[in-house]
Amino acid sequence: MSVNNKIFVYQEYILKVVSMAFNSEKFIEEATEDIKKTVGDGRAITALSGGVDSFVAATLAAKAIPEQLIVVYVDTGLMRKGETGNVLKIAREVGVNLIVTDAKEKFFAALKGVADPEEKRKKIGELFVRIFEEEAKKHDVKYLIQGTIAPDWIESGGLGRDTIKSHHNVGGLPEKMHLKLCEPLRELYKHEVRIVAKKLNLPDSIAERQPFPGPALAIRVVGEVTPEKVEIVREACAIVEDELEKAAKEKKMERPWQYFAALLPTKTVGVRGDERAYQYVVVVRAVRSLDGMTANFSRIPFETLEKISTRITNEIRSIGRVVYDVTNKPPGTIEME
Ligand code: XMP
Repeated sequence: MSVNNKIFVYQEYILKVVSMAFNSEKFIEEATEDIKKTVGDGRAITALSGGVDSFVAATLAAKAIPEQLIVVYVDTGLMRKGETGNVLKIAREVGVNLIVTDAKEKFFAALKGVADPEEKRKKIGELFVRIFEEEAKKHDVKYLIQGTIAPDWIESGGLGRDTIKSHHNVGGLPEKMHLKLCEPLRELYKHEVRIVAKKLNLPDSIAERQPFPGPALAIRVVGEVTPEKVEIVREACAIVEDELEKAAKEKKMERPWQYFAALLPTKTVGVRGDERAYQYVVVVRAVRSLDGMTANFSRIPFETLEKISTRITNEIRSIGRVVYDVTNKPPGTIEME
C-alpha cells in the first residue's frame, strides 16, 4: 500500500469516527429553526442545481418555510448530458415545485472572450445572483438560501487564507447584492451533507451523487467557453461517467469520489484513417477524496482507460488525444480551473 493510500485509509477512519458524533436529526431541527428565524415572515428564493448541497438546502428551506419559498432551476446551458431533465424529474418526485429559467444565451454571452478562470467564476457568480434578483423582484423576496458548504468558503479565501479559487457562490458573488444570504449548510462538509440528505429521505441518486461544481462545464473547458466546446466536454464527461460507473459496478475498481473530462485549449497532431488530423485534447480526471479538500488520483485499470479513450476519439470526432491526469491535490486541484 502506498503512503498516500495509507494516509487515505487513516483519514477515512478518522472521518467515520467524527461522523458518528454528527447528529443529523439535531442538525435538521436547528437548521430549520434558523431558516425560520432568519427569513421571518418574508419570502426567500433558493436555487436548485441538482447537486446534493442545493437539494439539501432546498429541502430544509421547504420544511422550514413552505409557503414563503420560491425554488428556481437556472438552465445555464452548462449542465451535464441529460441533467436538466433529471433534476426536474427528481424535484417532482420529492415534491419540490420548481420555476425553470432559461438563461443559456445570457451565460454564453457573459463568458464570451473570457479565458481567465477567476474572471470566469466571477462572471458566473454575478450572473446567477442577477437572475435570482430578477426572480426575487417578481415575488417580493428578501433572502437567497444557498447550499454553500465549508470547503467553498475555505477555498475562496479571506481572513488570512489565500484564495485557491473563488467558488461561484462565495468569492464569485458580486459586491453589491440586493438579496441577503442564508446558508444553512455553511459549517458542513460533503460527507455530513450526504448524511443529512439520507435523513431527509432524499433518493440515493441525490445523496450519493458525485460533486458537480456550480460553474458547471464552464470550468471544464479550459480557456474561453463556447457552445461548441461545452458540447464536446459534455459528451466526453458522459462517456467517462458511463465507463467508470460500469467498471465500478463490475468491481474492477472502486467508484471514484469525482470523475469527469475536461477540454484543453490546445490541439495536437494525429492521424485519422491515413490523413493528418489536428484536434483537441481531452483530460480524464478521477479522484479519491473524503471532502474535496485533498484528493488522490484514482487507480483506473488500463482496460477501462483504453475503453474511455477509444469511445471518446470514436464518438467525438473533434478529439484526437485523450490523457489521464495523475496529479494529486495538492499540488493540483480537482477541477482544471
Ligand atoms: P477543487 O477544484 O477546488 O474542487 O479541488 C473541490 C470541490 O469543489 C468543487 N468546486 C465547486 N463547487 N462552486 C461549487 O459549488 C464552485 O465554484 C466550485 N469550484 C470547485 C469541485 O468540483 C470539487 O468537488
